Amino acid sequence: MNDILPGEIETWQFLEVEARRIFGTYGFSEIRVPLVEKTELFCRSIGETTDIVEKEMYTFNDKSDNSLTLRPEGTAPVIRSFIQNKLHTKDPVAKLYYMGPMFRYERPQKGRYRQFHQIGAEVIGIEDPKIDAQVLTMLAHYFDAVGIKDVELQLNSLGCPECRPAYREALIGFLEARLNALCDDCRRRYRTNPLRVLDCKVPGCKEATIEAPSVLDHLCVGCDEHFNKVQGYLRNVGTPFTINARMVRGLDYYTKTTFEMVTNSLGSQNAVAAGGRYDGLIKDLGGPPLPGIGFAMGVERLVLMKGQGCVEPNRPDLFLAALGDEAACYAFGLMSSLQRRGLHAEMEYEGKSLKAQLRRADKLQARRVLIIGGDELARREAQLRTMESSSQETISLNGIEEFLLAGLTPAP
Ligand code: HAM
Repeated sequence: MNDILPGEIETWQFLEVEARRIFGTYGFSEIRVPLVEKTELFCRSIGETTDIVEKEMYTFNDKSDNSLTLRPEGTAPVIRSFIQNKLHTKDPVAKLYYMGPMFRYERPQKGRYRQFHQIGAEVIGIEDPKIDAQVLTMLAHYFDAVGIKDVELQLNSLGCPECRPAYREALIGFLEARLNALCDDCRRRYRTNPLRVLDCKVPGCKEATIEAPSVLDHLCVGCDEHFNKVQGYLRNVGTPFTINARMVRGLDYYTKTTFEMVTNSLGSQNAVAAGGRYDGLIKDLGGPPLPGIGFAMGVERLVLMKGQGCVEPNRPDLFLAALGDEAACYAFGLMSSLQRRGLHAEMEYEGKSLKAQLRRADKLQARRVLIIGGDELARREAQLRTMESSSQETISLNGIEEFLLAGLTPAP
């Protein structure tokens, strides 16, 4: 779990502001849900045999002995809220986005933390493959807009309750014949969660499953048609993608389209964003039988890719340096008034030497410095130094506020 400090936070804020801006143009509204939910919600949605539910949840009993869990992801809480607040009665389509911390007790490493942050989006109520293509295009648009390159959008389809069971059986049959080549973990879970074996990083398991049956060869007519249409719409709007038939997801609620935005630049944590369709989840959680699709991006991974410190820190527009008590008092008044009027102004509060004050201005990377001396104050004059051009001029203190503010906002 990490602190996010000044100097780092600017990149986070940039990523958040861009998400709000871009998701807004696609018609999404923000939703904020609690960090804590009933444990049962995650067991029922993510799945009892997933790593998240089996090993990674921060679960505790509250004083009334309810089992609660710090949310390991955002989809289940958003759907819980959608159902509980009967949002479908107000609008048959919900386009929602969220951002905030998630918690998983995983082994920490680069790009993988126990408290991490997601920016996610969910669309509820649209079955048509156009929305799959729209969500994926929005995701690709976001990566373009924030300047993160070197990512690839990989697509797969995991079928539906109609065609998945036959695929599962085919896969279990294939794995059964190769049990000796699989690792202990996969031997244990190949019956309960055979798809996870395709995702195992152990070289022996990778090799043993090279020829495993492909989910895409087992799709029913409806799923196959849906998947083809998604690809058609993506081509239509020019959103690049590749197919990865071995992509499985670590959560059980997915149906049909699944996807990951992957990169080679983060070592083994290669998914910067991931998601898919979950057409059965809303009904399974006690809501109306509505389809859903969404994704979540890992903000720490976005920050690692973007590079910390890539966004300029908050630099003062003006630093006021004053010589003597009277000038310091005047500078303090001027600074306060300018701050109220929207100018980022700073001063050295403790009346140090001019040299120390200028050092402070330098450290804060102030754009301009106003030097006010005692004699000059009597003449209603001061020196304005512009750091970029290293120029200095004498200016009148009469009308100084307007002068400084005008310098800030160029005329349209
Ligand atoms: P997920 O694949 O578990 O999906 O997580 C989505 C993204 O969150 C990952 O691709 C990764 O970037 C980031 N992430 C996950 N775990 C960690 C971690 N321990 N440390 C840092 N980053 C992490 C979901 O959570 C689904 N709710 C996505 C979704 C939304 N599906 C449909 N709608």
